[in-house]
Amino acid sequence: MRLLLLSDIHANLEALKTCLDAAPPHDRVMNLGDVVGYNASPNEVCERVRAMGSPLVRGNHDRACSGLTDLKEFNLVAALSARWTQETLLPQHLEWLRALPQGPVRGDDSPDAEFVHGSPRDEDEYVLNPTTASFNFRLPGHADRIFFGHTHIQGGFTHRNGKTQPFAPQYETGEDVVQFSMTLAPEERYLINPGSVGQPRDGDWRAAFALYETGGDAPAKVTFYRVPYDVEQTQQRILAANLPERLALRLKLGR
Ligand SMILES: [Fe+2]
Repeated sequence: MRLLLLSDIHANLEALKTCLDAAPPHDRVMNLGDVVGYNASPNEVCERVRAMGSPLVRGNHDRACSGLTDLKEFNLVAALSARWTQETLLPQHLEWLRALPQGPVRGDDSPDAEFVHGSPRDEDEYVLNPTTASFNFRLPGHADRIFFGHTHIQGGFTHRNGKTQPFAPQYETGEDVVQFSMTLAPEERYLINPGSVGQPRDGDWRAAFALYETGGDAPAKVTFYRVPYDVEQTQQRILAANLPERLALRLKLGR
């Protein structure tokens, strides 16, 4: 089973299209939430994501941009973009966003894996360090391989013999299409973040996604990808929509 993992697309049409063009053959797609918010193509992105028919877990921006949660929790820039998104989204997309399920979810054909936006214990938690990861690894009843988003940072954490350690893909260049594979050990547990398609924050501006391969005789494997996309076009759309300039600037910084 080859599962394409997408997360935090954040209404970035150019990044999404580029990721889908670069994606290797896969059996299905899993989407870890935050389809909208920040960037300026919410309707186009909703349309494409819905057409994929992939299962999703909702993100905090999916809730905020569809009116399910108050914008008080957001900083000013995020709130401005969420308000703009609410006003821009077509009614059918608003309705679809409101109905997205809260994680964790498990796929029928991937019982060893679990999918969340933030963390297994809290859909809004940022798993940014080994302490937070360790707490989640210790919760009973969760899968050995947990795929998460929300931080916009590609990589994750491993847990073995009571020890939690971070990991991140190592790439040779900062400008090309690159990939990094890691084999998953059966005795180890994992929290794995495919990275953000539409607003990476790990210092690498390239759009991020991952492929999870499992089943058959070969050991399970995750391959992380980074792909350059037309970031200038995305920036122009943000400015043309009168969204805060900072949202355009941060894309090229990967912050
Ligand atoms: Fe996000």
